Amino acid sequence: MPVRPRIRVRVREQVLYDKLWRLYDALVQREEYEPEAAFIIDTVRRHKTAPGNKLLDVGCGFGNLHLYLKSAFRITGVDASPTMLRVARKRNPDVTYRRGDVQSLRLRERYDVVTALDMLEYCLDYPSLERALANLARHLRPGGVLIFWMDVVKENFRQDRADVLAPPGEAPGFALFEYSYDPDPTDTVFQFVMLWVLREGRGLRVEVDDHTMGLFELKRVQDILARLGLAVSLFELDFSGEPFTELGPIFVCQRPAS
Ligand SMILES: C[S@@+](CC[C@H](N)C(=O)[O-])C[C@H]1O[C@@H](n2cnc3c(N)ncnc32)[C@H](O)[C@@H]1O
Repeated sequence: MPVRPRIRVRVREQVLYDKLWRLYDALVQREEYEPEAAFIIDTVRRHKTAPGNKLLDVGCGFGNLHLYLKSAFRITGVDASPTMLRVARKRNPDVTYRRGDVQSLRLRERYDVVTALDMLEYCLDYPSLERALANLARHLRPGGVLIFWMDVVKENFRQDRADVLAPPGEAPGFALFEYSYDPDPTDTVFQFVMLWVLREGRGLRVEVDDHTMGLFELKRVQDILARLGLAVSLFELDFSGEPFTELGPIFVCQRPAS
């Protein structure tokens, strides 16, 4: 008689940056951040007219990017999750980290570069996206540069998109199945479901983590940036060439040097 594996299933909402952080961390390869850092350093060099090198990274996660940016900038990392900040501090003891929410962020300092990478999708409607962008812009010095990107916008959203990811190496012990679907294309949100399958003794554990994410039109994002007085100097939906082929639009915005 074959032994049937025991399968334990748990469904929760938005636990990736808290309960499931170890899995997320094991999946992300730190070296993937090296080309992102090179892109940021080069973009800042071409677009910034402010003289300083202070960088504010909002929604900084584990601080992996900072490993490759900290030789070029004096970095302050901000995140809403205490767990992410704890890991980031351990990873980069020489970087300043603070807890903060992009919806209410008010730091005393101003920065030459502000980044918000893969985090504005957590705004669920245009008013909250505008509030977040206004808070990011308010922390920019004249002549400074704001860089942000979102993986998914209305224009590149793929209904029922599915991906399977696993950490490298043989028998890593878990895999992730990601699924995106939009039950109502007329609103500004979609569901991003992560299904983690983990070996647990002789059985399996399945963690379902359901995220509600924002889905915005490029034109409306550009309108917000114009209202905030920012000049969008680069805007690419298809960033061709490795390793950004999967990425959505990249926004590089300049705050005029008044
Ligand atoms: C997909 S991760 C991206 C992390 C990092 N920027 C990167 O590219 O690896 C999104 C991060 O945004 C943070 N976050 C989500 N909503 C936030 C908010 N309202 N204010 C600040 N951080 C937030 C999460 O805690 C998480 O660390």
